[in-house]
Amino acid sequence: MSVWTINGGNKLFGDVKAQGSKNAVLPIMAAAIITGCETELINCPELSDVGAAMDILRHLGCKAERRDGAVYIDSRGMNRTDIPHELMREMRSSVIFLGAILARAHRASISYPGGCELGARPIDLHLAALKSLGADIQEQGCNINCFDSGLIGTRINLKFPSVGATENAMLAACAAKGETVITNAAREPEIVDLQEFMRKLGVNISGAGTSVVTIDGFGTRRSVKHKIMNDRIVSATAMCCVAVTGGSITLNEVVPADFETAMAALEYMGCDIERGECTVKITCNTALRACYPIVTRPYPDFPTDIQPLLMAACLTAAGTTEFTENIFENRYRHVPEMCKLGADIVVEDRVARVTGVKRLQGAEVSATDLRGGAALVAAALGADGRTVIDDNGHIARGYEDFDRLLANLGADLSYRA
Ligand code: EPZ
Repeated sequence: MSVWTINGGNKLFGDVKAQGSKNAVLPIMAAAIITGCETELINCPELSDVGAAMDILRHLGCKAERRDGAVYIDSRGMNRTDIPHELMREMRSSVIFLGAILARAHRASISYPGGCELGARPIDLHLAALKSLGADIQEQGCNINCFDSGLIGTRINLKFPSVGATENAMLAACAAKGETVITNAAREPEIVDLQEFMRKLGVNISGAGTSVVTIDGFGTRRSVKHKIMNDRIVSATAMCCVAVTGGSITLNEVVPADFETAMAALEYMGCDIERGECTVKITCNTALRACYPIVTRPYPDFPTDIQPLLMAACLTAAGTTEFTENIFENRYRHVPEMCKLGADIVVEDRVARVTGVKRLQGAEVSATDLRGGAALVAAALGADGRTVIDDNGHIARGYEDFDRLLANLGADLSYRA
């Protein structure tokens, strides 16, 4: 299922408008059930993860359909509060629906989302946040049953600035009586987009993008229209592809500050980057040098999601780049596949040392996860000869028409879904 065939060596040139953000739209689709309203989401990316979220909404009794690039949700008819295992299994981040279902119906049942390719993916911080608000949570086998007899606003201090736990707490707190203050909240731009959507719902919320988010109930709006922010990880992915191949592309309708850490790394390596108000132009016409040590941490530090992509740009850069992956315990599964292309990478625990080689050679490789798969595509674009990537559906989870985006920039590739 889903195979990429890439003939490397072409430089990339042209304009890119990044898709809507996967990691912004998923929590917003969950938020659309809180007040029972009609929602129109513009710039909603066509991804398998978005499809999985629509399946969950329909299972809950909502209407969810895609028309002309927008997704329309009508949650007024919601009549269920459970997400069965087969739907949870489709997308582990479905746990984000827990807080929203609880806020709407004061009861929710999901199966444990379980781990994924990146690691165990526990949800203890999610559950602790909901318990702080007064939810009663029973874990029976692989099922989690939550209910409350009235959530009460409180202070929630997250032990770690978890993106998902921050979002779940924000969503559940909408239904709490009194003010909730979330401290040590995650600060990702996608959380700011969620806050903007929640304000349109009539939620009294502030502080997203900082470590302290305050929520104090909501009024009910019957219809909401929202444009999803553009995907900063996809923007950084396109930039890393150009760093690999050489050439020059312009990203349009972006917020440069959202992926500044990636741009700073590419600039250090020798790429020329021009930042506009809502555009970024990257030109790479010289051999790159290795980057300074890359250490992944919560936003605004270097994002874990861009680690595999920047690694692809380092594979033929002169010198050694040291990566330290602090967020997920198993996010180097793309390394053995990159080594099949001739890369020189040594992994010791959370540290990967990448020493640039002269050229990569095409080979048969397998995508191991979403961003690792995209990184193999990036590496293959610069390899000599043909690379075949057995993708197994990973890349389509987060990249809309990624093959068309790259082909439009001059890449020589074909993709079979
Ligand atoms: C979100 O995942 C993103 N997914 C991830 O993007 C991203 O890598 C991650 O945030 C970090 O930025 C979506 O937004 C849908 P976390 P999330 O909770 O919320 C530990 C991609 O490629 N943790 O911030 O699951 C966890 O194990 C995906 O687009 C707990 O220990 O990330 C991990 O080590 C991959 N207990 C760390 O925190 C918890 O209850 C970061 O997780 C929750 C998390």
